[in-house]
Amino acid sequence: EKGTYPHYMLKEIDEQPAVIRKIIQTYQNEQGELTIDVDIINAVNKADRIYIIAAGTSYHAGLVGKQLIEKMAKVPVEVHISSEFGYNMPLLSEKPLFIFISQSGETADSRAVLVEVKKMGYPALTITNVPGSTLSREADYTLLLHAGPEIAVASTKAYTAQIAVLSIFAEVIAKSKGLEIDFDLIHELGLVANSMDVLCDSKEIIEIMAKEFLSVTRNCFFIGRGIDFYVGLEGALKLKEISYIQAEGFAGGELKHGTIALIEEGTPVIALATQENVNLSIRGNVKEVVARGANPCIISMKGLNMDEDSFVIPEVHELLTPLISVVPLQLLAYYASLHRGCDVDKPRNLAKSVTVE
Ligand code: M6R
Repeated sequence: EKGTYPHYMLKEIDEQPAVIRKIIQTYQNEQGELTIDVDIINAVNKADRIYIIAAGTSYHAGLVGKQLIEKMAKVPVEVHISSEFGYNMPLLSEKPLFIFISQSGETADSRAVLVEVKKMGYPALTITNVPGSTLSREADYTLLLHAGPEIAVASTKAYTAQIAVLSIFAEVIAKSKGLEIDFDLIHELGLVANSMDVLCDSKEIIEIMAKEFLSVTRNCFFIGRGIDFYVGLEGALKLKEISYIQAEGFAGGELKHGTIALIEEGTPVIALATQENVNLSIRGNVKEVVARGANPCIISMKGLNMDEDSFVIPEVHELLTPLISVVPLQLLAYYASLHRGCDVDKPRNLAKSVTVE
């Protein structure tokens, strides 16, 4: 039930801090340590490479997951769009382990790959919000998102839950291999939840930004580098899916290789700046588009912010920034959809679960 909320999407955005807290709680053992099923740990430790398979928003969470797993657990990861992988399987490593990420656990494109890799005898883990879903039943192992039912077609809380669960997975695998993690993940995820609360209380500012940047435009670009690029892809998908604005996410450095030709007077360019190592380079990219007439909207993280920024998110661990930088992008898409008179929860041409290939 959406209660007093006008739309499920807004309710689900607001539920994100509680979902993160629920995940921290559910994945802790009696000693207060993060843990997952020991069979999963053993299976991962036997594998030489992880293949993440997913579609849409879950694919975008997988891209962030690759960073978390490679940086924390030092296991090589490839991320693939399920419908592509199904028809054009890459050369696999000797001992692959597959992770299927799916909110619904019913996405046909992902299931087709699962059926195929099970035939080949490879181990598979499904990360899903729905216990007993097809992908959960057919895989060897499951990790649940505990996000509660997601009703809006635009996925929000499942995305952040997927990243939170992937971070826990990465930490548990790292520890099982005796690797040092130089931060306390439970503490950092707690800070993320608190920061999400702050962001959910900043709706008026985001609504004004949506009016300023998105009320009349036909298109919009999202730029970022590294992990911010991946969040930009998700911001663009959210915007196109519910506001019908043509939106694209780009790696900041790629702009000059073609896309910059699309920048006209007033084109909104939403830039993410949450990563210290690329802060100056992404700001350089913003200057390049501004010189061509773009209307820049910089969303930065505290500590890296500058005077010209439109919105500053609270500071969190650099690997966990997607959990909070995505929130203003979800809200921007929500308000853009609302102001343009679109059906926020049930956008045209789309279904909540895509059960056909
Ligand atoms: O249920 P799944 O996570 O497998 O769904 C995958 C995509 O269909 C889904 O994320 C879709 O892209 C959303 N509508 C995005 O908001």
